[in-house]
Order: sequence, then C-alpha cells, then structure tokens
Amino acid sequence: MNKAVFDRHLSELNQHHDRLSDTSIVDLFEQDPERFDHFSARNGPFLFDYSKNCIDADALNALLSIAEKTGVAEYRDRMFAGDIINETEGRAVLHTALRCPETESVYVDGQDVIPKIHQVIRLMEDFCAKVRSGEYQVTGGQVTDIVNIGIGGSDLGPRMAVLALSPFVTGPKVHHVSNVDGADLSDMMKNLDLKTTLFVVASKTFTTQETMTNAHSARAILEEVVGADKAADHFVALSSNLEATGAFGIPPERTFGFWNWVGGRYSVWSAVGLSLMLAIGRENFRAFLRGGHDMDCHFRKAPLAKNIPVLMALIGIWHRNVCDYPAYALLPYDDRLSRLAAWLQQLDMESNGKSVTMSGEAMNCNTGPIVFGEPGTNGQHAFYQLIHQGTTVIPCDFLIAAKSHEPEMDHHHRLLVANCLAQSEALMRGRSLDEAQGNHHRVFSGNRPSNTLLYEVLDPHTLGMLLALFEHKVFVQGVIWGINSFDQWGVELGKELAKTLEPMIESGANDAANNGSTAGLLSTFFQMRKD
Ligand code: F6P
Repeated sequence: MNKAVFDRHLSELNQHHDRLSDTSIVDLFEQDPERFDHFSARNGPFLFDYSKNCIDADALNALLSIAEKTGVAEYRDRMFAGDIINETEGRAVLHTALRCPETESVYVDGQDVIPKIHQVIRLMEDFCAKVRSGEYQVTGGQVTDIVNIGIGGSDLGPRMAVLALSPFVTGPKVHHVSNVDGADLSDMMKNLDLKTTLFVVASKTFTTQETMTNAHSARAILEEVVGADKAADHFVALSSNLEATGAFGIPPERTFGFWNWVGGRYSVWSAVGLSLMLAIGRENFRAFLRGGHDMDCHFRKAPLAKNIPVLMALIGIWHRNVCDYPAYALLPYDDRLSRLAAWLQQLDMESNGKSVTMSGEAMNCNTGPIVFGEPGTNGQHAFYQLIHQGTTVIPCDFLIAAKSHEPEMDHHHRLLVANCLAQSEALMRGRSLDEAQGNHHRVFSGNRPSNTLLYEVLDPHTLGMLLALFEHKVFVQGVIWGINSFDQWGVELGKELAKTLEPMIESGANDAANNGSTAGLLSTFFQMRKD
C-alpha cells in the first residue's frame, strides 16, 4: 500500500532533483539569507541543522507530503498504541512503552503493560543498589567487575551506552563479551579477579549460539576458581525466555525479564540495560529513560515539518532514493560515542536492509543505506579523503556537544568544534580549479550534503533522546518504503548453514559439503590443523 503511494511520489521528487541539478547548496544559501533558520529545528537540548543539503522549500514540501500520504503519522500512532505492526512475526513493537512514565497505560492483548515494566525496573533498581553498595556479595566479597555476555542488541546498546556515559559511572567496572571467538572471552577473563566478578548473561531468546557458548565457558572457568557451588552467585540473566534461564541454573531472583514485543535492537531500554544501570546508578538510568520518552513525545506531537526524526528520515529518503547515494556516515565529534555507529548499524541495517515489502512484493527502489562511522577527528585521518574527493557521494551526520566533560581541557573541545564545523563546510563549499591554482589533485567538487546535530552536553537524558531519535528516523523510513522494519529474517540462513557445517567440522569430513568451495576450504582447513 505505502509502496504504491511512494512510487507515485518518487517521480515528483525526481522532478525536483532535476530542477535543482544546476543549483548548489551554496547557491541555496545565497538565494535565501535565512536558510539556516528555515532548514533547522530545535527540540530540548538539540539543534538539528539540515541546511547543508541540496533541498529547497518545494523539494522539502514534496518530501513532507510523502510522509503524510504514506501514513507515517498513522503507523506511528499504531506503534505507540501496541498494534501488531510487526506483521511477519505477529508482534506489537513497544520499546517506547519501556520508557513510559508509570502514569500512562499501553495495552497489549487487552492488558496494560506499564505496571509490569515498572515492576521489573524496580527489581533491577533494588538489585543494582545491593550490588553497588556491597550488600550483594559474591565469593570474594563486593562485586568489582561486571561482564555483560550478549551479542547484537544484547551487546551493542549497553556497550555503547556505558562508554558514552562513562563520566557518570560510579559503580563496578563494566566489560563486554560478544564474539564466539574464544579470544574475546579468554582475554577478558585473564584480566579479571573472577572472585569479585558478576556475569550478566543478556539474551532475549537465551538460545543464541554465541552467547550461550560464552556463558557456558565463563561458568566452567569460574567454577575452577570459586567452585561449582559458589559459581551460581556470580550469574544474572536478562531474557524473555524464563524457562531457559532457569535451565541454565540462574534463579528467578536474579533473572530480569522482558517481552517479545521488545525487539533485540531496541532492548537497551529493557532489562538488557542492567549493566548500564549497575554502572551509572538508578537516577541516571531513569534520566536515560526520560530522554527516550521526551523524544517519543516530540515524535508524536511535533508537526511533521518540525519533527526532527521525520526530517532526518526524509533527508535520508532524498539521498537514497532520489540521489541514489548508497552509503551514509555517522560522524560523532564525541569520543565517547565511538560505539554509536556500531549500534546504529544494527538498528538501521537490520531494520531496513530489506528487499521485499510488508506484503512480500519485490522492492523496486533502494531501501536502507550502508551505515558506517567513526568519531571525528579520527575519521578525518582515515576515510574522509573518500568522503571529500571520492567518486561516491556519502551524506554525513555530524554530531557535536556544546560542552565537554573536561572543562580543564576546554581548548581541546574548541578544537574539536572547529574541526567538526570545518568538515561540513568543506564538504559543502569544495574548492574550484581556480582556487586550487590549476592543480586537479587539490580540487574538491563540494556540494556534498551533511546534517549537524548540536547538543548541550552528552548526559544520560541527551543520550536517551539521541537513541530514540535514530530509532524513529529508521521507523519513518521503513513506513515510507512499506517494509517491515521489525523482523530480521536475513540473519537466519547463515545461522542454519553453520549448524549443518558444525558436525562436519567436528568429524573432520567434508563429504556433506554442498559446494566445491566449501568442500575445498574444509579439506585445506583439516590439513592445516593436522600439520
Ligand atoms: O542477529 C540476530 C539477532 O536476533 C538480533 O536481532 C539480536 O539482537 C541478536 O540476534 C541477539 O539475540 P538474543 O538477544 O536473543 O541473544
């Protein structure tokens, strides 16, 4: 349904693109001296500047009308109301309920889910308070270190957030293990005092191969150090599969649950945020949830033309579907956001990396872009060369705080800001052959698009708003494309094939390999292991 509407409007957008083909972003600033005011939006601690894109008021209006006609507002309201919008899995999509105040109600199958969400939050708070105060003891006494074992959404969110909020960490030191590569767990365990370490096993399904392998190995290593009877005290579970957590041997009082209407990539707001709460404490975790909720309110109430997630999504649609740009870079000028791009990769690419519509028809236009990013200024000395002079145009989002957490090093922050603003300006302005004194190697085409998100300071509330902003951006794009942003069938085939290969690898036989390459790789692998 949406896709048909989108297809019809795409040709209108293409006409705007043709109309603007001889106009540069710099020209647009000359035509409208108040362009910055007209193409920026404010909400809470954020200023979103989208003026450095090759879009004028008419093109923006055409984009806004697509958002209206594809039913973004209706889908948004259905999501918040708990309707089953994840149709291929038959589920509601309610990560937004996880950050709702207790005074609100959200119904799933006729039951208000808010009381049970807050019940779990209180259990988590109670447990965190005991761990942080030392009332909860493990073999060696007070817990000094936490290891979150999880992968995908059960790792990327908490890992990114603990690092982002490191100035607020007052609890035990939090570490993360995700990869089934034994190097990850082994290197971690070697550097810890296991007698004072708590393992938090985070897995929505509690069946994920990587997480369960790591959890079993961690327990086996721990048992050697503290003994089998004491090892159980060192484990906590975060999951929606309470049967499996019990079978693993983690008692109900140290199991924090969530529900199947929380997608893995949205789960940092649920019990999966336990390691974050352990690190930053209850009040800061509540501020993080409030930030998410405040962005939800903005997304629900602001008119589309002032709605930051909607504007961000529409600019992304322009770049992906009208300009045909294949990739997008997230460039936080905030070192503590160095895991944000990894988190966004899962959010965006797992949600919108789809080739069929909700009803199973093949897409005839592009969906989600390739997402990558690194903090500035490090990226400047790595891949920015291609962003400035490569043959592929890559739209960028620059993120920068007005204030750092290091007032004693404020000159660093001022340099960081100068670099951030310089990069978006260089992308837009470029440098002509004349300015480069005839040296073609020093020419910059310019007219390369970017947004800048300026925020006051990176604190728990702002981080909550930031994550919810990206969640809603991805949601809006999915609605416009008419795809299901909430399933992830594309991760299944590889998992299934790994299961058929495992017995071959165990037995040392490649006879069941179903293609010449896999058979050849296996026989060489067996040979190398023998040598
Ligand atoms: O990679 C697929 C996936 O299902 C993600 O969506 C999810 O975040 C991750 O695996 C981990 O799943 P679980 O939390 O169930 O271990």
